[in-house]
Amino acid sequence: MILWWIETTLSALLIVTTIMVFILVYLALFFKVNWVRYPNHQSSAKYFIAKHRKRGTLPPVYPNGWFALLESSELKRGEVKHVTAIGENFAVFRTETGIVNILDAYCPHLGANMGEGGVVKGECLECPFHSWIFRGDGHCQSIPYAEKVPPNAKVKAWKSCEVNQLIFVWYHAESEKPNWKPQSIEEISNGSWKYQGRNEFYVNSHIQDIPENGADQAHLSSVHGPAMFLQDLFPNLARHSWTEAVWIACKKECKTEEDITSTSTSLPNVVAERENAETNDRHKAILRLKHSLVLFEKYKILQLSVEAVQIGPGYVELRLDSRWGPLCILQTVTPVEPLLQRITHLMFSSRFLGLYAKVVMIGETVMFERDLQVWNNKTFAKTPVLVKQDRTILDFRRWFSQFYSANSPTFQSASESLSW
Ligand code: FES
Ligand SMILES: [Fe+2]
Repeated sequence: MILWWIETTLSALLIVTTIMVFILVYLALFFKVNWVRYPNHQSSAKYFIAKHRKRGTLPPVYPNGWFALLESSELKRGEVKHVTAIGENFAVFRTETGIVNILDAYCPHLGANMGEGGVVKGECLECPFHSWIFRGDGHCQSIPYAEKVPPNAKVKAWKSCEVNQLIFVWYHAESEKPNWKPQSIEEISNGSWKYQGRNEFYVNSHIQDIPENGADQAHLSSVHGPAMFLQDLFPNLARHSWTEAVWIACKKECKTEEDITSTSTSLPNVVAERENAETNDRHKAILRLKHSLVLFEKYKILQLSVEAVQIGPGYVELRLDSRWGPLCILQTVTPVEPLLQRITHLMFSSRFLGLYAKVVMIGETVMFERDLQVWNNKTFAKTPVLVKQDRTILDFRRWFSQFYSANSPTFQSASESLSW
């Protein structure tokens, strides 16, 4: 009888263990996080705009830079998508050979939206209204019912680049050419880091509020200090600790670990600069800090070294180094309307760290939603009252102002152009 009982228990244990292993393998290798907080995004986000919310005195609403319009996986060969962002309507299409082009969505003939119902033909896009065919450079290649194509039959072609599984468009209020570009991350392009999932949010705030968070060191313990779970029941059980925070604006070249370390340890908030560097990294800023989860005010677990490289106004490469290896999160911030930002995070890690990466991704999402709560309700403080410890916020604002130019749209001008 005892033997039978032991055998049954062991068999049950074996079955449960096998199921658990299958679940863990599935979660680590096949499951992808897809946290989209507000599926009905625009109306849901607008819900948060209180009728009497004060805007404050705003900087221009669309900075100059590269902005992500789509993830690569969202645009297959031969597909076209209509994307609205930066007060513009884009027809983003991938040719039969896989090249991404971005055209103004409105056809110069009679104004049809080529992103809605347009058809990719080889390397070109065919308008759905009268079938004029446009090349990726915007020129009309052929008109099915006319022998000659008029020289002014062309549509604006936007500069684009596809890198790190993201499709970016270049926006510049003075129509200047790009002088920098998001760079490919080797581990993503060679496939050693796998895509582990994403999240997506819409937030009602000025775009500058989002990257300013990186330079705002004082908010770390108030907003991101409390533990994610059981905080109300056991307030002393756990807390997140954020230490050694350093924010640096790059001037010329600012890319090696030594550059940042040597600058930051001795003189925390200075600008890193190399006089004779040929490259210009002025469009970058770096935040470094250390995270741990402190249990019972005593034991530190989940220790991570965090490095966030802000690249231009709308893109961040976030690297989290744990004792098991690195994780990478790419953040994109794209202004959809003057005060409506679309934000995504894509997580990458080695296959081996898949499960860990997904857990961290969910943690990052919960932390990010705390910032969202603030952004969705705040005003823009143009002349904030600051203390000495807040000085990196001024450094950040000075750095960010490089992305505005004489004709950058204001809230008023951008809002007028959107009214139909
Ligand atoms: S409106 Fe596009 S072809 Fe006529
Ligand atoms: Fe934050």
